[in-house]
Amino acid sequence: MRNILVVGGAGYIGSYMCKYLSKNGYQPIVLDSLVYGHREAVKWGPFFEGSMSSRELLNQIFSTYPISAVMHFAAFCYVGESVTEPAKYYRNNVSSPLTLLETMQEQNINNFIFSSSCATYGEPLEIPISETHPQHPINPYGRTKLMVEQMLADFGNAYGLKSVSLRYFNAAGADPDGELGEDHHPETHLIPLVLQTALGQRESVSIFGDDYPTKDGTCVRDYIHIADLAQAHLLALERVLDGMPGGQYNLGNGEGHSVKEVIETADRITGRAIPSKVTPRRAGDPAVLIGSSQKAMSELGWKPAFAALETIIETAWNWHKKHPGGYKS
Ligand code: UFG
Repeated sequence: MRNILVVGGAGYIGSYMCKYLSKNGYQPIVLDSLVYGHREAVKWGPFFEGSMSSRELLNQIFSTYPISAVMHFAAFCYVGESVTEPAKYYRNNVSSPLTLLETMQEQNINNFIFSSSCATYGEPLEIPISETHPQHPINPYGRTKLMVEQMLADFGNAYGLKSVSLRYFNAAGADPDGELGEDHHPETHLIPLVLQTALGQRESVSIFGDDYPTKDGTCVRDYIHIADLAQAHLLALERVLDGMPGGQYNLGNGEGHSVKEVIETADRITGRAIPSKVTPRRAGDPAVLIGSSQKAMSELGWKPAFAALETIIETAWNWHKKHPGGYKS
């Protein structure tokens, strides 16, 4: 069985990836600092608590387990915080992965799958966004993701590292089996906030602006299920393990849903009238973000199976209902 080091394997997407790897015949080895991750979500292989910035810990893992590839899900992801605390983001999202890549190089581990983001594109010039769209991120979070993409390209040229950068649009939904889900502290993402409101944990959902140039005035996003992200990661992994070249791929459904549509769909699925109120726009929010994932479909053979917004919200609702207090409940 091949060992895959999953950095951030206790987090929202990383933990699901471990379950998916294990189902598909790989052994996930988890490295997670537990700053945001959950120990309860690590169930499919050995666990090491700590940071990818520790060479000592990385060397300990690499000398205990032969590692075929590394997947990195351990970036900090709060766009607003990245503006007010950029140092935290450059340290965790750029400096720490540099240490990880250097240590991999020393140990001759040459396969890397990176969770990148549509935030690397910045304000879209055209919709849908394809991989050739210029990358001009508008916040430190997006810049840190782009810097790692650039580092990967340079390590590829100089040292032969093979990497795939997967540019997620809006990751959402929960494990279809109901075992793993989204439990962020603080929570800033729309779908979990809407569902927490449905559970009565919040008074109402804020709609950040209803005067955008969209069909109902609210922002439009391309929501993509975490199980479909995991499928793409596995295909990318198998591609590099088979000796094929790496690359960059968008992962979205090519379809946008407005904030109001998300709330209305959640009303229907939960059977509850979810209170909402319009508040001012949030700084830095583009009106529309929709990705074209044709490249992932044709080159990786990716076929999203949970694309419908209803399915995304249903799986998330199933998890939130069962875990009203997150993993601790
Ligand atoms: N929104 C609200 N009210 C809320 C929260 C969000 O109206 O309480 C709106 C936002 O304005 C946005 C949409 O809902 O239009 C989705 O917002 P999220 O915060 O859930 O996600 P973002 O679109 O901000 O996602 C961005 C980037 C991703 C990146 C992610 C990091 O698009 O690439 O932030 O968390 F990964």
